[in-house]
Amino acid sequence: MTSRKKNIFITGASSGLGAGLAERFVRDGHTVIVTARRESLILSLSERLTAMGPGRCVYRVCDVQSEASVSAAVAWASSTVGPFDVVIANAGVSQSTEASYADTAQFESVLRTNLLGVMYTFHAAIPTMCLRGSGQLVCMSSLAAYRGLPGAAAYCASKAAVSALSESFRMDLKRFGVCVTLLQPGWIQTPLTDRNLYAMPFRMGTDAGVDALYRAILAQKSVVSFPWPLAMSVRLLRLLPAWLYDKILGNRRNAKS
Ligand SMILES: NC(=O)c1ccc[n+]([C@@H]2O[C@H](COP(=O)([O-])OP(=O)(O)OC[C@H]3O[C@@H](n4cnc5c(N)ncnc54)[C@H](OP(=O)(O)O)[C@@H]3O)[C@@H](O)[C@H]2O)c1
Repeated sequence: MTSRKKNIFITGASSGLGAGLAERFVRDGHTVIVTARRESLILSLSERLTAMGPGRCVYRVCDVQSEASVSAAVAWASSTVGPFDVVIANAGVSQSTEASYADTAQFESVLRTNLLGVMYTFHAAIPTMCLRGSGQLVCMSSLAAYRGLPGAAAYCASKAAVSALSESFRMDLKRFGVCVTLLQPGWIQTPLTDRNLYAMPFRMGTDAGVDALYRAILAQKSVVSFPWPLAMSVRLLRLLPAWLYDKILGNRRNAKS
């Protein structure tokens, strides 16, 4: 348990990794603002976590596809609990965007959530953090950022983009005392991966995955990719020529939705 109590703002906290991280922070005595679109889920989560303590949890509906929604949530939350120490841009969606049939609306939706949503979230928090000379921005990317996967063009593109965005922000913001943590997990059991029909090597249980993410955030790591056998594999795959990469992964198919 860390001694100084922090204010943590999390997007996409109605299920999966966001909800798991919120629980860890409250259990360590911190104040967490959970946000997402499904109000009933974040309301019951905040009630459960506040009852659990020793920290507390408040909620606010927020759609990260809308900059106005994100700005309003950040402004409301900072006036309610005080300035944020940690902002976790976790909200994300995964859906099949097979090139032969996906329409541009599907691509737009994934990119709006996974890329613009992170940018809106960080952008809303950066001015105050820079003024205070402290703070941590956390970006939930993925090992899918490393190379394009079949059927997942939008997801891979969005995660490659947020990984690059976070690296640039890390260097830009260092002189203001603001650090940026880039998280690139492999598969972790959540509603998002429960929909996948294909094999997911080294898929971690929810608790183990959330633990690894939580430790990386507390340690203010710059970049964390795990589990290590998969992280190592994707780094090696990145070095392969296209013909060999296509041969290995070309027949793989992505999530059904
Ligand atoms: N699970 C994995 O294996 C894995 C691996 C690598 C990276 N990730 C990333 O981890 C993050 C969390 O994923 P998860 O596995 O925990 O999935 P999840 O259980 O499906 O959670 C996704 C969260 O994102 C929220 N969300 C989706 N669209 C949103 C929007 N427009 N505005 C606000 N919130 C939105 C959802 O809440 P509402 O629907 O209530 O809005 C939900 O709380 C995602 O960015 C995902 O890409 C996951």
